[in-house]
Amino acid sequence: MSKLTFPPSFVWGAASSAYQVEGGAAEGGRAPSIWDTFTHTPGKIIDGSSGDVACDHYHRYAEDVAIMAAMGVQAYRFSIAWPRVQPLGQGAWNEEGFAFYGRLLDALEAQGIAAHLTLYHWDLPQALEEQGGWRVRATARHFAAYAAEVARRFGHRAATIATHNEPWCTANLGHGVGQFAPGEANPAVAVQVSHHLLLSHGWAMQAMRELGVKAQLGIVLNQWTSDPATASAADRAAADFEWARSVAWFMDPIFKGRYPELALQKLDTSLLSIHENDFTAIRQPIDFLGVNYYFRHFASTETPPRQPEGALGFTDMGWEVYPQGLTELLLRLKAEYPLPPLWITENGMANADRPQEGQVHDQARIEYVQLHLQALQTAMQAGVDVRGYFYWSLMDNFEWNSGYARRFGLVYVDYATQQRTLKDSAYWYRGLIAEQS
Ligand code: NOJ
Repeated sequence: MSKLTFPPSFVWGAASSAYQVEGGAAEGGRAPSIWDTFTHTPGKIIDGSSGDVACDHYHRYAEDVAIMAAMGVQAYRFSIAWPRVQPLGQGAWNEEGFAFYGRLLDALEAQGIAAHLTLYHWDLPQALEEQGGWRVRATARHFAAYAAEVARRFGHRAATIATHNEPWCTANLGHGVGQFAPGEANPAVAVQVSHHLLLSHGWAMQAMRELGVKAQLGIVLNQWTSDPATASAADRAAADFEWARSVAWFMDPIFKGRYPELALQKLDTSLLSIHENDFTAIRQPIDFLGVNYYFRHFASTETPPRQPEGALGFTDMGWEVYPQGLTELLLRLKAEYPLPPLWITENGMANADRPQEGQVHDQARIEYVQLHLQALQTAMQAGVDVRGYFYWSLMDNFEWNSGYARRFGLVYVDYATQQRTLKDSAYWYRGLIAEQS
């Protein structure tokens, strides 16, 4: 493995999201989100769990910030829970909710850790879901008002503000196949929802820009390259379609002001309603693009589908370890779009970690990160402008429909006691940050 040498200005971070770590679900005036409803519906989460308590970060944030400081982490990416600061998703603000994030920001500032905010990491106020949720344009308007209020209060204290995290998941996993909240399985609705998410991004960007905030403004997308399993025409076409429906579906509107033709031809667009000026709003200049990278897509049209060989193995999620996909992805993005500076806003692995006498030996995670950083460095050497890397996740947490059964953290969480234990990877990351900065 060649030596990692990142620019001294490169930022080393760790990431989390509100519903996955906070807990305190019924505290401080927070109202339910679609994830509260979904997790409390039997059969939705593999271990029957919920984010009611999660890592209890709502009460333990100071300890968690101290852990980050001890690790030398320079930046923390976290999300604001919309139903904590605006319980109904419109109308009254909840001061107690804002006060929590104010305390978290104070703690981060005291340690010199930069805050990277996400406005929407999937926890839509349930009250808005009852009015149609992301299926209706009104939700995009409410989102813009919420974004402006957060930016007004915290826009000078955050390094970046991302409108959405992985809107592909909200649209497709939430509404296309129903694995995520709100649990709808209707591909036509998924397309409709994706448009409203993009619209809400555009309107939120406009609203935040008007405030002249200091934070860099952008969006976080989950992306993958798509490789045909064989050289057959069918597999190649499937790979092209996958790129169009996942990456280009979000990138084209933002950077080119239109949806990709190939996806428009093949997706169910019967509920897609694009109004005049929608693309003007969506195609706002963004200051940064966050890229979440975990795996590649392996496009096979055979039955059963061919699986990748997985020379570097598979994670506990069943995801292929494929670091070269990160290089390929970034180079393709650079070739196809006029990119702003990028941040790797997520990358990480779930591993079957177990504490042994107060230690967690997760060598596999260390290797995973090393390989991905090397792949990132290769892309940067080829001219891709990347400003920082956030490991997903700071600590083990509620992994959506996988519950607590999948551990992504650098820090191990014993959910019975809420005790945190730094894994070997956390110590390794600390060493890496010290050596690179
Ligand atoms: C993407 C999501 O943003 C995050 O919430 C999730 O836990 C990780 N990937 C791992 O699946």
